[in-house]
Amino acid sequence: MAAPAGPPRRSTLITGIGELTTNDDELGRMRDAAVVLEGDAIAWVGSAADAPATDERVDVAGRAVLPGWVDSHTHLVFAGDRSAEFEARMAGAAYAAGGIGVTVAATRAASDAELAANLDRLADEALRGGTTALETKTGYGLTVADELRSARIAAGRADSVTFLGAHLVPAGAEADDYVDLVAGAMLEAVAPLVDAVDVFCERGAFDEPQSRRVLEAARARGLALRVHGNQLGPGPGVRLAVELGALSVDHVAFLDDDEVALLADSWQGGRGTVATVLPACDLSTRMPLAPARRLLDAGAVVAIATNCNPGTSYTTSMAFCVATAVLQMGLTIEEAVRAATLGGAVALDRDAPRTTAGGRALPPLGRIRPGARADLQVLDAPSIAHLAYRPGVPLVHAVWRAGEPVVG
Ligand code: NIG
Repeated sequence: MAAPAGPPRRSTLITGIGELTTNDDELGRMRDAAVVLEGDAIAWVGSAADAPATDERVDVAGRAVLPGWVDSHTHLVFAGDRSAEFEARMAGAAYAAGGIGVTVAATRAASDAELAANLDRLADEALRGGTTALETKTGYGLTVADELRSARIAAGRADSVTFLGAHLVPAGAEADDYVDLVAGAMLEAVAPLVDAVDVFCERGAFDEPQSRRVLEAARARGLALRVHGNQLGPGPGVRLAVELGALSVDHVAFLDDDEVALLADSWQGGRGTVATVLPACDLSTRMPLAPARRLLDAGAVVAIATNCNPGTSYTTSMAFCVATAVLQMGLTIEEAVRAATLGGAVALDRDAPRTTAGGRALPPLGRIRPGARADLQVLDAPSIAHLAYRPGVPLVHAVWRAGEPVVG
């Protein structure tokens, strides 16, 4: 299968692929396959025996190749450490959203350079683990100036940036006044830098009318929507996300059957709301694991993400999340890999070609097929089954991101 012809670019043949997971409905999961990368995109996929001539050739000696992870939910613009809070939680303390305030204080006190260096450190760590695309959020600034600099630091370092001014009502503020600020001056300041707006719709954070105000203001500006919903208990987040056409509702640990059906039905007749599950966060907060099996059985679109942040989920490891989804949430290997690659791309609205406001073409993410961004990882294993069969073992052998060899 070949991509439409364009100007000639340097081409690389990756051959000797023992098992190729494409996420493409026609190509499926292939054996003895080869892939050609040209510039930042995939140019050809097929049987190794039919591979075309290229400028260079890399033989991966029977290893498994799959799309790079697409981590669609992280909070990487922060400073500080909350390991003492984590240790207390493991000793029986409950998670409380108020812990966010500890990171807000540390983030406000940090310099731009410190925040950027911390984000780069975590993005590099994620890349070494096979993550080739990631979203990140603001949300530890909570003043106009601190949210704006968080958005500036994230822009250009992440594939997608989300404004989360509605993360917590900062100490000393009155909730409704703060919501006015988020939906007004704060949104106005960050809007040119972000792709989406998110709200932590949960008891102890923002209630349904407050969340709606922020999301409707964002929608009026043409920004995509996300919701942190149903994380710590039942709540209005899922219904609100579906009603307002959010790209994703994330956490979804507490869902009743109607909410599962609502998420599945949101895909009838067009793009719906992705249910993003965050297994590492569920474990680290000792919450029930999100019902990913029920969601898939009902026909919902599921993404798996790390939720990397210093409070509830301090990991960049998508492989850990995939293994947990298989071993503890009842997903098959193929379902979990798809949710952590193509599912994330759908949650970011990057599963199809897009053009930026500035006119730059963005190739799609999450699949290995002609035209997609050349993001792929090679495992030191013959099959993706090893991601859960050998949990906790670092299996990444090599990574290409946008056609560049970045690991291995
Ligand atoms: O997704 N739920 C809200 N936000 C983060 C927690 C952030 C924190 O505790 O610092 C989350 O889990």
